Amino acid sequence: MRVVLFGPPGVGKGSQAQFLSEREGFTHISTGILLRREMRNSSELGKNARVYIEAGKLVPGIFVRNLAEDAISKCNFKKFVLDGYPRTIEQAKWLYDFLDQKEAAIDTVLSLVVPDEVIIDRLSKRRVNKVTGENYHLDFKPPPEDLEPGVIIQRKDDKPEAIKHRLEIYQAETSPVQNYYRKQHMLQEVDGTGTFEEVFDRIRTEIGISPA
Ligand code: AP5
Ligand code: MG
Repeated sequence: MRVVLFGPPGVGKGSQAQFLSEREGFTHISTGILLRREMRNSSELGKNARVYIEAGKLVPGIFVRNLAEDAISKCNFKKFVLDGYPRTIEQAKWLYDFLDQKEAAIDTVLSLVVPDEVIIDRLSKRRVNKVTGENYHLDFKPPPEDLEPGVIIQRKDDKPEAIKHRLEIYQAETSPVQNYYRKQHMLQEVDGTGTFEEVFDRIRTEIGISPA
């Protein structure tokens, strides 16, 4: 099964994609995570991407196209969940063409929906383990207390100015991708409010996996 998890910054795409990976055996492909890995490795791509990411802007599409296509090829076009790709109509068309060659179309696009105030809360209270990449939320999933100081950090694009910018860009450039998929009858909206487990149960129901 091939799934796209769609939605604004902070809606919970990464958290739910991680559940699909750990509990249901999907390969989790996040262009955000792949870009941050390039940044940590100080690759040419990482250096170029950093300035866009930290300002809350989309990186040029060609940067992410190759990352996403390589990751999809590595899992042989089978059982993956895309998190954060495609994010523009251009990227959605690239994805279609890429998968079409292998007759491996996306089965469903799940669009997570939460009110804006929940998004701001989730992003401003997110913290990240800079070694493992694990995400936390100060209230709902607090970081363990026994970690060395300095391991838990805040993403630079989770600062208020960058959050504002990311939400504006989502409205202008990414949100139209929903209509692209809606017209093809591929888009399913999923309520993203409530606990991690409640959201995951809705996702499982939507893609036809029985609760554990
Ligand atoms: P990316 O890393 O993909 O960021 P994003 O899409 O902005 O999404 P986030 O990772 O911020 O949020 P999320 O939906 O994954 O939510 P999460 O589960 O963490 O991309 C970063 C940047 O890379 C982009 O801005 C862009 O520059 C670039 N980029 C990436 N892809 C690109 C592309 N295709 N084209 C161009 N540029 C691209 O949850 C958020 C918080 O809420 C966490 O703290 C979590 O613990 C908490 N939380 C989640 N669910 C719940 C819940 N149910 N209850 C309570 N707390 C919850
Ligand atoms: Mg994420």
